[in-house]
This record gives sequence, C-alpha cells and structure tokens, in this order.
Amino acid sequence: MNCKLLSIALLCVIFAPAAHSQCIPRDEKVEAQVEALLAKMSLRDKVGQMCELTYDKVAQNPVAPGAPKTLAGGMLSADAVNEVFSQYRVGSILNVPFDIAQTPEVWADIIRTLNLASLEQCGVTQLYGVDQIHGASYTWGGTLFPQEVGQGASFNAAIPRRIGEITAYETRACLIPWVYSPVMDLARSPLWPRMWESFGEDVLLNGIMASELTRGLQGKNPNSVGMYNVAACLKHYMAYGAAVSGKDRTPSSVTYRDMMEKYFQPFRMCCEAGALSLMVNSSNNNGVPFHANRRLLTEWLKEGLDWDGMIVTDWADIDNIWNRDHVAASKKDAIALAINAGIDMTMDPFSTDFCGLLIELVNEGRVPMSRIDDAVRRILRLKIRVGLMDKETWDMPYRSSSKAKKNRKSSFKGDVEGLYPDFASDKFAREATQMAEECMVLLKNEQQVLPLKKGAKLFVCGPNANSFRTMNGGWTYAWQGNKTDDVAAKIGKYRTFLGALEQKFGKENVAFSEMVRYDERNFNLDHKTQDGSQAGGTVAEQIAAADVIVAFVGENSYTETVGNIDDLSLSHNQQDMVKSLASYGKPIVLVLNEGRPRIVSGIEPLAKAVVHTFLPGNYGGDALANLLSGEANFSGRMPYTYPKYHGSFITYDCKPCEYVETMAGAYNYDANTTVQWTFGSGISYSEVKFANLRVETPKAVGKTKPVKGFTPKSAAGTKYDGDLLFTVDVTNQSDRKVKEPVLLFVSDLVASLTPDIKRLRSFTKVELEAHETKTVTLHVRPSDLAFVNEDLQWILEPGKFRAAVGNQRVEFTLE
Ligand code: BGC
Repeated sequence: MNCKLLSIALLCVIFAPAAHSQCIPRDEKVEAQVEALLAKMSLRDKVGQMCELTYDKVAQNPVAPGAPKTLAGGMLSADAVNEVFSQYRVGSILNVPFDIAQTPEVWADIIRTLNLASLEQCGVTQLYGVDQIHGASYTWGGTLFPQEVGQGASFNAAIPRRIGEITAYETRACLIPWVYSPVMDLARSPLWPRMWESFGEDVLLNGIMASELTRGLQGKNPNSVGMYNVAACLKHYMAYGAAVSGKDRTPSSVTYRDMMEKYFQPFRMCCEAGALSLMVNSSNNNGVPFHANRRLLTEWLKEGLDWDGMIVTDWADIDNIWNRDHVAASKKDAIALAINAGIDMTMDPFSTDFCGLLIELVNEGRVPMSRIDDAVRRILRLKIRVGLMDKETWDMPYRSSSKAKKNRKSSFKGDVEGLYPDFASDKFAREATQMAEECMVLLKNEQQVLPLKKGAKLFVCGPNANSFRTMNGGWTYAWQGNKTDDVAAKIGKYRTFLGALEQKFGKENVAFSEMVRYDERNFNLDHKTQDGSQAGGTVAEQIAAADVIVAFVGENSYTETVGNIDDLSLSHNQQDMVKSLASYGKPIVLVLNEGRPRIVSGIEPLAKAVVHTFLPGNYGGDALANLLSGEANFSGRMPYTYPKYHGSFITYDCKPCEYVETMAGAYNYDANTTVQWTFGSGISYSEVKFANLRVETPKAVGKTKPVKGFTPKSAAGTKYDGDLLFTVDVTNQSDRKVKEPVLLFVSDLVASLTPDIKRLRSFTKVELEAHETKTVTLHVRPSDLAFVNEDLQWILEPGKFRAAVGNQRVEFTLE
C-alpha cells in the first residue's frame, strides 16, 4: 500500500452536510397570499391549477375567415377559453400560436385576454410559458443571441447573465412571465440532437453559466420578479444528454453516484441561485422514468435542497409513463405515480383528462390531499412571485404613463406605453454582436492565414454561408427554426455570414457559390444535403480570382427528435466539396456552423484555418466578419470534446484507462482515445503566456460525521480556514488586445474510487491590453475537490492533487 492509500485508510473522513438552508428564503407576505388563495379552492380548482395545456386548446383553429389574424380576438376562441378556465380551472397555457413568432403586441393581447378570463373564472391568473431560448426567440423582432453551446464557449459568465436580462425584458414586453430556459443537461453524447441547447459537457461550466442565466432572467429577488423579469424553468432534470443511443428521449444508464456528483450539480447550483421552476427529462434511467422517480424529484430536489419551486413535466410525459414506458397500466395509474413522485404540474398539451382522473385518485385515497396542496402551493407561489396576482405588474404595458411614452425609442408598437423602449434596439444588437464574437472558437490558424488582409478577395461557399436558419438553429421563430430565413428577411436588418463578409470586405471582393445545399427548406430532412459539390466551371473561375476560400459547413436547424442521426460524419456532399476545393491550392478557411460536432477529420487537414461558430444567432454574421478581418480577437474555447472518429467518443473528465497507450513491460494496451479538439481548446490572434502557477492551501481545523448530502459545499466536513488560492501570471505577448479564458483543472492523484483524469474547478476570463501582464487568482473550496462515494456520501480524501492552468502545473497536498 503506498503512503497515500495508507493515509486514506487512516485519515479518510466522510463529511456531513450542514443543515441545508432554503434555496429561496420564504417571504411571509407571499406565503400568506398563497394560503389565502388555497383556502378558497375546491379540489376541482386545485387539480385544474396543476394542468397545463397548449395554445391550440384555446385557439380558433382554423382561424375564422376574415378574422384579424394579428389580434388576439382573431386568434383565440372565446368558447374554448371559457371552457378551459370555467370548466377545468386550468392553471397554465404554453407554446407559440400557430408555430410562428408573434409580435409583442399580439402576444400581449393574447395573454391579457387569457389572464382576464382566468382571473374571472378561477380567481387566479393563468401562467403562460414559452420556449424563449437564446433570446426572445418566439417574439417577432426579438434580439437573438448565440445558443447556449456558444455561450459556454465564451467562458464568460457575464454573457449568459446579460442574455438573461435582455431576454426577460423583451419577453415581459409581451406580457409573458415564464420561459423554459436555461438548459443545463450535460452534453455527454455528441450524437444527441439537443447538444447545442446546453453549455457543453462540463458540470461546472453548465452550473455557473446556467446560474447566471437564471439570475439574469429572474432579476435580483426571486420572491418579487416584477415587470422586467421572468421566471426561469431549469431543464431537463436530469441526465438527458447522457442518452446511451445518442437519440432524443432515449434512456440513460447513469448511477445515482454519478447523478449526484455530476448531473445534479448544475440543477443544485441554479436552485440555490433562486430558480423558480424546473422541467423533467422525458426519458428513463435504468428503467425508471424520471417523471416517476420520487427519489430524484422529492428527496433530492424538494427535500434535499429545501427548494420550494414548482416541477412541471415535459411534453405529454405522464402519458409516456404508461403508453410508452409501460410502468403503469393506464393513464390514471401513471398520474398517481407521477404526482406521488413529486410532479406539481402536468404539461398534458391536448387533454384535460388529467383533471377528472386526479380528482378520482384523491377521492380513492391513492393521492393524498397533502400532496395536492403541496403542488398547488408551489404553483400559486410561483404565480405570486412572478407578479401574476398583481395587476400593476402583469398588466403594466397597458397602463398610461407620460414618462413611459417619452421613453419610446423603437418602432415597437406593443410597448403600448413605451415601457420597453429598448426592445429590439440597436443597443441590444451591438451587445449581441460582441457576445457572438466571444462565443466563436479559432481552432487552427496555420501560417497566420487569419486575420484576412484588407482588400483580400474571397471565395465563399457551402450550405451554411447564406442562411439565417443555420446561424440560429432550432427554437427560432418556429419550433424547428425552419421559418427563420423568411422571418429574418422580412425583419430585414440582419446579415448572414455571406452578407456580413460582403459588407466588411466589399461586395466586389466576395464571390459566392453555394455548391451544396440542404435537401429541403423543411424540417424533416434538414441534415441531408444535395447538389454537386465539385468545383468546376464558374466556381473554378471564382476560385482562380480569389486569395482565400471561406467554406461554411455544418448542419441545418433541427429541434429534438427531428434531429436524430445515425452517423455523426459531416454530410458526404460537404466533405466532397471541401476536397474538391483543396485541389485549387488556395488557402481554405473552414467555418463550422453546427449544433453538434459533425466529424470533419477527413477534411480538417485540407484547411489552413478552422473556426467554430456554433449557432451564433442573427448577429453571428457580423461577429464572424469582425473576427476574420481582425477588428475583433478570438477568445472562445471548446465547451465540449470534439470527436475525431465515429467510434471514439469521450469526455475530457474521463477515467485514466481511457488514455493508456502502452502497459509497462506488457503489450500495447492501445486504449488511447484520439480526439479532434479537446475540451478547452482554442487560440486567438495573440500569443498569451501563463507563468508562475502557485497555490496556497488552507489549514484543516476540524471534522464532522458522515451524513448523506447533496452539495459538495455542505459535504466539506473537514473544516478548513479558507479556500485554496491559485495564482497565475498571464501575459499578452502580442500587439493586440485579447480576452483570455483562464481554466483551472485539478486532478486527484489517488482516490479510493478511480478519479477522473481532471476536472474543471474554476475559470475566469481576463482582458489584456497589448503586452500587458495580469496576475489572476482563482478560489477553490477544498470541498470542491470532494467526490461522491458508493454510499452516496461526499468525501474528501487527504492526499496529493495536481492543478493545471495552460502549460503550468503545480502539485499540492490536502491533509
Ligand atoms: C421539449 C422542452 C420544451 C417543451 C415545451 C418539449 O418537447 O422537450 O424542452 O420546453 O417541449 O415546448
């Protein structure tokens, strides 16, 4: 036994969590209002509140001929609205009408009409929920930002914070109080069609970025969200991105130990940041549907964290418990399972059957009244917190105020009183452009082919060069993002990659040929490409006249199951296109624009430079043009591991045996996994040097007894007199200003369970002027280095650790 193991045996301490404090401190006024409302409700009122329907259930469908489509009056059916609220007492409506973004004015009319009807019939306002993802994406004209995966690449937590603030502002201008964001699923399977919806593969990166997005959305006080903020809905609880098959809504097989140590943590951090609601993973884990998992929903989340927020199902997922997953014999049994497990609201989009069945279950004693009261308390608490029981707040845009009128700057008519003057403003556009710059990653730049010289002649090609649809991805104006080109063209103020390059380099200097195009501007064939990819004829002439080829490749937009694929390779047409371009001997800049890492190992060597844009939103074209011209500097880093081969998927925090080449004195072990680009990789136009990485470790000052716990923070039983302090000098050796991400990885060198090779334990981004040096200090709590053992206890073992920042390494010992 080596010394370290001996010391583990002798000194190993299992730490106890301190009693957990409430995630959101209870506000007495809110609680009193909840109790007063609850006391007036019948069982029918209560179960109605627990039901959420989709917009179609209150829509005029089809819209009556001649009805003014742009007004709520022409879009809602008065009879349906009446039935939903008077007969069923429904608590919530979701979704975008007719699968197309609406103007703030139309949104506000619809929601106001529904609120007034609900208030009159049920005594409480309904809670409208919308997938406003990467900005107010279901709002016509809303400012659209990079999708979360790009935000993850920025490694700048101020970005999701600000995106949250602007999204909330523009969403609330529509009277919408609730958004189904952020996503914090760890993107562990590169095939998974929802990879781009999260911040990448890492626990800490997802946790920090999602917490900041939550804070931005909800504002400072989750007990009083107000008219410029909205309630967040964390999703999808949990391990959704660990689907074994890589397909949407398919099972994961994660141990509870891994759940607690990894998948649970971003949710925990967001709940502690005050998140008001949460949505559940549609699938199942080792045979247990997440929607029926009492341990995860009630024990870990509600009780373990003392979190008083509201849990909503994903789309029709109580139905999935019985008619897909077969763990219940009927819808009624499935409802009993889910509600007893801890579900508070069912997104049962097209059916009100839930209401009658749940009443029967309560009357038969199969669901206790206390569970119903708990669920309804959580729903009412959310409604009150988000201002829905306060007309001053939810109806504000309809109130007169001369000051607000004076503020009106934009052409937005929906801010009836000019209360949201910055809606879709140039100011927001500038911010979105700068953010998109930070969300792109330069992965290769041989012979400094970038930045492109002023006056350079460009040949631009590829299916992603001139498409708003591909720049934005899914959840944009419509569920699949398939209407984006139409809408963006109508709004008329954005530029595609091509448009922005033409603007930056001069139209006369940019020649374009698409060469390969997506099969259909429709959503079910979106990742297939067609057309000849051989560069010949006019294309050959265009290339001959160009200095550089800029090839835009990747994927078309998709959302959820529609994006399932069997092969991660970039489409063969696109690969062939790049191969044929290479025969001209001109430098190729390969620009990736995709939601997940399509394999490019066959064409990457043909490119002198590679840029990953992820899904940068409507200002992605301008951002890329600024970067390629050198007006802006790159500062993004990979938020996930980019695979090189279809059969070799790995995440950076894997186990040591996944990187073994040769066993000492034995045979070639050959378990080395080759990847295309590692997590955290990326370069800029500046050479940045890291030096003098050093660490100060705190002293241990006490111990506590083993108790199960959910948070590494409270698990850190050995009390230390402070944090570990890591300090490193960062020098910009270039003449160009740069923002440099500083990522601190720590490896536990020996542990009683095989430790991950390394884990990201802290990060920041530092801005450096030309030739400037800054000393950066990163704090890590000793407890952040704990892991979950097989008894589901957080444990911090004494011994040696190694920290790394850039090329710097330092070892330290925890006693
Ligand atoms: C998706 C969720 C989304 C919900 C409501 C579901 O199909 O999985 O992410 O929030 O629909 O639109």
